[in-house]
Amino acid sequence: MCGIVGYTGTQQATPILLDGLNRLEYRGYDSSGIAIVNDKEIEIMKIKGRLRELERITEGVSPIGTTGIGHTRWATHGGPSNENAHPHYSRDKSFAVVHNGIIENYLEMRDFLSERGFSFRSETDTEIVAMLLEYYYEGDVLDAIIKMRNKIKGSYALGIVHRGESDAIYALRKDSPLVIGLGEGENFIASDIPAALPYTRKFIIPDENEIALITPDNVTIYNRNKEQIQKPVTISDLSVADAEKDGFPHFMLKEIHEQSGAIRKTVHDRITPDGIRLDRIKLDGSKIRKIFVVACGSAYHAGVVGKYFIEKYARLEVETDLASEFRYRDPIVGPDCLTIIISQSGETADSLAALREAKRRGSRVLAIVNVVDSSIAREADDVLYTRAGLEIAVATTKGYTTQVAALCLLGLKLARDRETITQELYDELLYELKQTPETLARFIDDVSNVAQHLAGKYYTASDAYFIGRGYDWAAALEGALKLKEISYIHAEAYAAGELKHGTISLIEKNSLVIGIATEPTLLEKTLSNIKEVRSRGAAVIGITDAPDSIGAECDDLIVLPSGNSAFSSLFTAAALQLFAYYIAAARGGDIDKPRNLAKSVTVE
Ligand code: M6R
Repeated sequence: MCGIVGYTGTQQATPILLDGLNRLEYRGYDSSGIAIVNDKEIEIMKIKGRLRELERITEGVSPIGTTGIGHTRWATHGGPSNENAHPHYSRDKSFAVVHNGIIENYLEMRDFLSERGFSFRSETDTEIVAMLLEYYYEGDVLDAIIKMRNKIKGSYALGIVHRGESDAIYALRKDSPLVIGLGEGENFIASDIPAALPYTRKFIIPDENEIALITPDNVTIYNRNKEQIQKPVTISDLSVADAEKDGFPHFMLKEIHEQSGAIRKTVHDRITPDGIRLDRIKLDGSKIRKIFVVACGSAYHAGVVGKYFIEKYARLEVETDLASEFRYRDPIVGPDCLTIIISQSGETADSLAALREAKRRGSRVLAIVNVVDSSIAREADDVLYTRAGLEIAVATTKGYTTQVAALCLLGLKLARDRETITQELYDELLYELKQTPETLARFIDDVSNVAQHLAGKYYTASDAYFIGRGYDWAAALEGALKLKEISYIHAEAYAAGELKHGTISLIEKNSLVIGIATEPTLLEKTLSNIKEVRSRGAAVIGITDAPDSIGAECDDLIVLPSGNSAFSSLFTAAALQLFAYYIAAARGGDIDKPRNLAKSVTVE
């Protein structure tokens, strides 16, 4: 979603803001802009389109000033246009504002302001923030911000500059991410740490109801009563190199290749000679009646693998829920439940709301999260970090597979604690999980050519159907999402047994079907479904660790290393990520930043 940057220091602000915005590009956007404040005025330059447009219009004429705010906008209220791009001025141009989030009562606020003589230049919800600041300003910006904040409802990360204050940025947040970067004689604000990484690794993360006043030499944080408070400084372990492509043509391909290292970090030091150690996580498997696994998108698909795994080995009932449904459906969740929220970014609005709903109903919440200190990580009772490192491509790859690995680890821990598996099986599964990163690294190297070859053969397909049973159905869900989001080919996943209940009517000559078959007990069943679609003319790519069983019924084959089916879903995922990647490359899409999508969905 929208990206915010801000700089105050001794250097010209524009190039630093543009650099920061470039580093936030992956969040998704359709327009961008900057506001530079000097002693006399605030100058805004903004434009619809990619950042190169903003670079073009600022080149040679960029506003002079050492303090400014910048923004990449992902349209919500009002389409992408120059007028709707951020920053937004107040009526008299005394304030400029950048915003990530949604002001839910903006229509009411528009009426409130219109009745008081204000008129608007854009269709956005954000503009009312600038106008309210002007309306409430009586000589103290902090007071104006507090009054404005009391008036608005919704989610926001806000960066604000005020005319005449050429060395100050004000910032606040609610349900949207914002960090403050601490430099030497210069300070920053940003939606995400990577924007400020070339300048600092020291960050403060403001909490809700706090307001930050950032000057070149100081960061002052005020609580809701306007009292100054001290905040801890976090040192990021990310580096600039993490945010670069390292010779790969796309971040997605780089991240696919980083998966084995990422999974190693997720599991290795948590598997000790004495079994699984999940430090600081309070889990009492014997007291849990039911587990809810709640997430969005790929994280939800990881949750489906987790459900099958935990139910199988820990014999605990697991319900998977889409966060956007869970939060509004009156779920029967309470103190005897464990709610697991899965999120790569830790900022997904629906997942955060679901977390709060589960807590409100008395459930303990365990977050499986990648981004350290993200909102979901901070609000959960316990956190199991996936340690995937920085993921930039919108299409998640290592984010997803580390979630699956973390869920398997958790499932085995619960199973052992509840004594629902034998020590022998536990040891065997742990051993296999520990070997997975190495096998996966080799597999990714080997399967890349196969995936590229198949992409060359099938990239003109208009539809694709992914089928499987059990873990393979979960893998199918993820494979279909990966293909559609980056290649724009219509793709659906079906539990293979469901085909005959309607979907098979879509299958005709040359329909593309990806049949996944790794579960030994379900192999025969999936094979029957493959035969059914093939006899209706479909071209079938089989993905299996049992090529002898299904190979004859497939036009093409991706062969996986044999092993436990839950872990096989990691290999299936990697193969399907590569397949989607090379298809998108052949079709010429914007692989790292697919249309209409954002990396971190911070609004509902
Ligand atoms: O950051 P999260 O894991 O909470 O994000 C959830 C989904 O938005 C995300 O997995 C999305 O589906 C990906 N773009 C899929 O590749």
